[in-house]
Amino acid sequence: MKDVSFVDLFVGLAMASFVVATEERPDCPKLCVCEIRPWFSPSSVYMEAQTVDCNDLGLFSLPEKLPVGTQVLLLQTNNVAKIDQPLDYLANITEIDLSQNNLSSISDVHLGNLPQLLSLHMEENWIRELPERCLAEVATLQELYMNHNLISFISPLAFQGLSNLVRLHLNSNKLKVIKKEWFDPMPNLEIPDDRRKSCSFY
Ligand SMILES: *[C@@H]1O[C@H](CO)[C@@H](O)[C@H](O)[C@H]1NC(C)=O
Ligand SMILES: *[C@@H]1O[C@H](CO)[C@@H](O)[C@H](O)[C@H]1NC(C)=O
Repeated sequence: MKDVSFVDLFVGLAMASFVVATEERPDCPKLCVCEIRPWFSPSSVYMEAQTVDCNDLGLFSLPEKLPVGTQVLLLQTNNVAKIDQPLDYLANITEIDLSQNNLSSISDVHLGNLPQLLSLHMEENWIRELPERCLAEVATLQELYMNHNLISFISPLAFQGLSNLVRLHLNSNKLKVIKKEWFDPMPNLEIPDDRRKSCSFY
């Protein structure tokens, strides 16, 4: 066996301690990355958020248990078609990103009662319609991204309960008409000079 030089040994020890120092939190789901990351609220308030990054892992369902302190949950680019275990044990969750998944019906998304949720991303899925009160569970929501789906029908009462929404993205769907009454429940929606920025349809 080759002699182990002092330098080899030192490098080996340094690497071992590096591995220990960056070892993943025990409550972090397998393959996901759990760390504090910068986050900006919809009103551009800076925060350091406990982030669980499970992007692009080929997941068919959500990890069974997420760290209870999770604030931002990233599940972009997976194959999730259903969320049947509500996330209401995540008392401080503020953002969920389900963009680029396999969701075809919003009734398959059971998030539970999430009193801190501000931002929900479901763009680039296969959602076809927004039925009555389909997101009333998440009444605190300020940003909703539903662009690049197949939405052809929106109930007049679809957005009932979302009175805090300031940003709604519906562009790149299959809508043929836009109805004024959709917006009645959302008095705080921002309509900026460049409408396509915050409330876009085309
Ligand atoms: C949620 O946030 C509050 C306020 O920052 C904190 O005191 C509490 O411990 C957090 N809850 C969890 C489950 O992390
Ligand atoms: C996506 O969901 C459909 C059913 O809605 C299913 O037939 C298909 O296999 C799923 N695709 C993937 C990649 O999971």
